Amino acid sequence: MVEERFPATRMRRSRMQDFARQLTCEHRLSPADLIQPLFVAEGAQIGPVASMPGIQRHALEQLGAECRRVQALGVPAVALFPVLPPEAKDDSGSAALDPDGLVPRAIRAAKEAAPGLGIIVDIALDPFTDHGHDGVLRADGSVDNDATVELLTKQAILYARAGADVLAPSDMMDGRVGALRTALERDRRFDVLILSYAAKYASAFYGPFRDAVGSRTALIGDKRSYQMDPAGSDEAMREIALDLREGADWVMVKPGMPYLDIVRRAKAEFGVPVAAYQVSGEYAMLEAAAAQGAFDRRRIILETLTCFRRAGADMILSYHAAEAAAWLREEHSA
Ligand code: PBG
Repeated sequence: MVEERFPATRMRRSRMQDFARQLTCEHRLSPADLIQPLFVAEGAQIGPVASMPGIQRHALEQLGAECRRVQALGVPAVALFPVLPPEAKDDSGSAALDPDGLVPRAIRAAKEAAPGLGIIVDIALDPFTDHGHDGVLRADGSVDNDATVELLTKQAILYARAGADVLAPSDMMDGRVGALRTALERDRRFDVLILSYAAKYASAFYGPFRDAVGSRTALIGDKRSYQMDPAGSDEAMREIALDLREGADWVMVKPGMPYLDIVRRAKAEFGVPVAAYQVSGEYAMLEAAAAQGAFDRRRIILETLTCFRRAGADMILSYHAAEAAAWLREEHSA
């Protein structure tokens, strides 16, 4: 770097007028960087999510229209999350393996309504288990890694056959990416992408999501035996390295805002497509503060999403994706 010195360098010169600010802008947010998570439900589960104002659990019948709306705004993909009634859940999450279950039907509905829109599905058992864990439990209550991976592999193949474009294992079991990739190869599904939740932390920021899918009240204990300690960073790099070696195409860091250092390291150290997930608790936090007048809602949302890009994220999952995309299009055409 050149050694700069005042007054030869006056940094404000480039900030003085809009034309110069535009020309020197380092990172731009575009609708094409965003992924919209969508909750899908049936019957009594349909309706608003109390801890996420503005977010709906969509009826399967509305999902197609919602997908078309998101696609028309320029958002390239959605991530689907099922909400099951408590009576459909059991200790092994067997509803996850139902070929006519909510997720396969949702995938087909989304594909039919919005061809060309990327369909990402979560691979994990927590929306389906009555204990709220992402895997199956041993008699002593611990999560059984290898037994879980077997079930996840079946779940993944089922979703791939239903037409999912991207499988996103969010369970944090060891070896699951390799098992999924092997099963996909065996099923001759060479083009199905794996977006691995590689660096997923045991975070309190998932609270509202667990409300949304009804796994919070169900959850016995916590997820610290499989999700990572928020205090670590080298551990995240090891997780990413393993998942890439096992066949992940893209890797995710989750949660988002407090973990931008992990996004930065992931991008710098691996140079692969990196996704960041601005999770439910971040959404709730922004909405609550904006509702209290703490800051301008639109500005804060666009600012946080832009910061993900600056940190190195190629794609951002955000519950604000569609709304932000609409604002960005407005600004672009203004
Ligand atoms: C489930 C899963 C979670 C989220 C995405 N997939 C919750 C969890 O791990 O408990 C969180 C998403 C959010 O908080 O927005 N495996």
